[in-house]
Amino acid sequence: MTKRRAKPQPVQMAPTLKHERLYPLLDEDVIQQKVRELARKISGDYAGRSPLLVGILKGAWVFMADLVRQISIPVNCDFLGVSSYGKSTESSGVVKIVADLKKPIEGRDVLLIEDIVDSGLTLNFLIENMRLRRARDVRVCALLDKPARHQVEVKLDYLGFTVPDRFLVGYGIDYAERYRNLPYIGYLEFDEKDKKRS
Ligand code: IMP
Ligand code: MG
Repeated sequence: MTKRRAKPQPVQMAPTLKHERLYPLLDEDVIQQKVRELARKISGDYAGRSPLLVGILKGAWVFMADLVRQISIPVNCDFLGVSSYGKSTESSGVVKIVADLKKPIEGRDVLLIEDIVDSGLTLNFLIENMRLRRARDVRVCALLDKPARHQVEVKLDYLGFTVPDRFLVGYGIDYAERYRNLPYIGYLEFDEKDKKRS
């Protein structure tokens, strides 16, 4: 008889609100190991070049901070702020640049750094946007991918983990601006009562 794995207990130390429960998904050491692997791969693939790493704010800043410190080739860093889900857990599908790059990127090798790919609409829009600015090469490095949610195809050149269709938080990823400071990644579940209200 196959034993069903017990559901993990909600994490107590995290600052959850009464109607939210947080369950662990990816431990800190598992994430750090993956970040080192991604950095090694990027350093090898871009050897002899100096790519511009573009972090997509705000979700990617923790991942990017760890990633760049493991990359062994010279890189430049810049950031793009895009409109987020706000307090909702569903994407609006409308992508808006709310904070732009500091310099032109014409002729540069751009590596977009994203926390999590859901519908794929954000990355699709940004890849096209980088191409319109005449970047020489545009690639993507995403820590997490939720393939069940894709609405459009996105080529992920570097990917950390494929994850289930859950609402994830931690390691830079938020729910209504909370949980970014968790060193691990977990998923949130909401009480039925709360779902009806939102
Ligand atoms: P997409 O455009 O639907 O692919 O959405 C991508 C963006 O939505 C990511 O950069 C995240 O900021 C946010 N997002 C997607 N899934 C989650 C999640 O599970 N938790 C928190 N934010 C998410
Ligand atoms: Mg994001």
